[in-house]
Amino acid sequence: MEYHQIARSGQVPEGVVRRFFAGAVEVALSRSEGEIHAMSNYCTHLDCLLSSGKVTDEGLLCSCHGSVFDYDSGEPLQPPATRPVTVFPVKEEGGHIYVGIDEGLAEAAMRRRAAESRRLSPPAATS
Ligand code: FES
Repeated sequence: MEYHQIARSGQVPEGVVRRFFAGAVEVALSRSEGEIHAMSNYCTHLDCLLSSGKVTDEGLLCSCHGSVFDYDSGEPLQPPATRPVTVFPVKEEGGHIYVGIDEGLAEAAMRRRAAESRRLSPPAATS
């Protein structure tokens, strides 16, 4: 697994969630009780951006319909979401935030609609 430096520590103060990118992967970085957390930026309910949500004591709140996702497991603690959001390993060193991403995590963190259209698209024509 490769760790990507995606933010400076000061860019994610306590109680704040912000969007960052690791290549093409969109990551919601948040800080709660001093600890940094990294999740896919797409809510598993209807793809709203979690970086537009709120940090709560329980987890990250999606501002669209109120689902809350556990920081560590990504499991939804409040409906309407029923599927966990992808959580990335994260570390903070020397004033920088690093997120661990491999191919599987990057795929799992895709927008739901993008993942579905990829599954539904017909195989490429062969000549
Ligand atoms: S899109 Fe997040 S709760 Fe509906």
